[in-house]
Amino acid sequence: MNRLQTFYGTSIGKKIVVAITGVIMYGFVIGHMLGNLKAFGGATALDQYAEMLREIGKAFLGHGTFLWIARIVLIAAVIGHVTTVILLSRINSASQPTRTIRRRNASTLAAKWMAISGTLVLLFIIIHIAQFTLGWITPHASGTTGFETGMVYSNLWGAFNIWYVALFYVAMMAMVCLHVYHGAWSMMQTFGLDAPDRNALIRGSAAAIAISLFIGFSAVPIAMLTNAISKPPAMDELQSADASAIQIEVIR
Ligand code: HEM
Repeated sequence: MNRLQTFYGTSIGKKIVVAITGVIMYGFVIGHMLGNLKAFGGATALDQYAEMLREIGKAFLGHGTFLWIARIVLIAAVIGHVTTVILLSRINSASQPTRTIRRRNASTLAAKWMAISGTLVLLFIIIHIAQFTLGWITPHASGTTGFETGMVYSNLWGAFNIWYVALFYVAMMAMVCLHVYHGAWSMMQTFGLDAPDRNALIRGSAAAIAISLFIGFSAVPIAMLTNAISKPPAMDELQSADASAIQIEVIR
């Protein structure tokens, strides 16, 4: 424990913690984006995928336990990342005595941008979990069913059929991806992997991953808003039931 404390007490120790927790979140975000693309296979494909995540390790751990372990690791990574970034920025401010010098420091601008985008990403994650995991915030278009646990596809469909919800998600995905891009670049510097002859390649790869994430994440809200992918079956039934009710009224 003492060794760990001494390691964390140094600036480089903190930077390594930021980088490792960043890698964990990076992995989650890539996996989450790929999982979301199951929506293009239809409601059953996405809902079955969500259920499959809850069934990992079921035989040994029970239903949903593995997912909870993954959630705990993710929450610990987010907390570790955010608190260590705050501690590091305090150390940086203390080592730059005057405001003028701080303003002149080019890296301060990047750090400021990371702080602003990071805060917005954190706020997004809180709203996002309250919406799609907990069902506490449930904006949904008229004629769609509200939030129902396990009905991932129709929950998304209802929300993204409101234009400003879809727009909010696309805008937040731009924020997430810019944060991820800058984060990947500074992580390479932390690990000393940057070098003049490699920097163009590293920056290019970080940009390619960030752009792919943006396209992959934004595709679902856009496809649902524009009806480019199929309506959830439950909503088709709901709408045909509504239509029959109207017909009955007309006949009467
Ligand atoms: C358009 C983009 C996104 C869509 C459509 C989306 C969709 C979803 C859905 C439907 C769930 C609930 C899944 C379930 O109950 O099985 C969820 C959970 C979650 N999402 Fe997203 N997501 C998006 C982007 C993101 C991003 C960029 C992040 C992180 C920066 C993120 C972080 C999370 C987290 C932490 C959870 C909770 C996981 C859990 O409790 O199991 N999401 N997302």
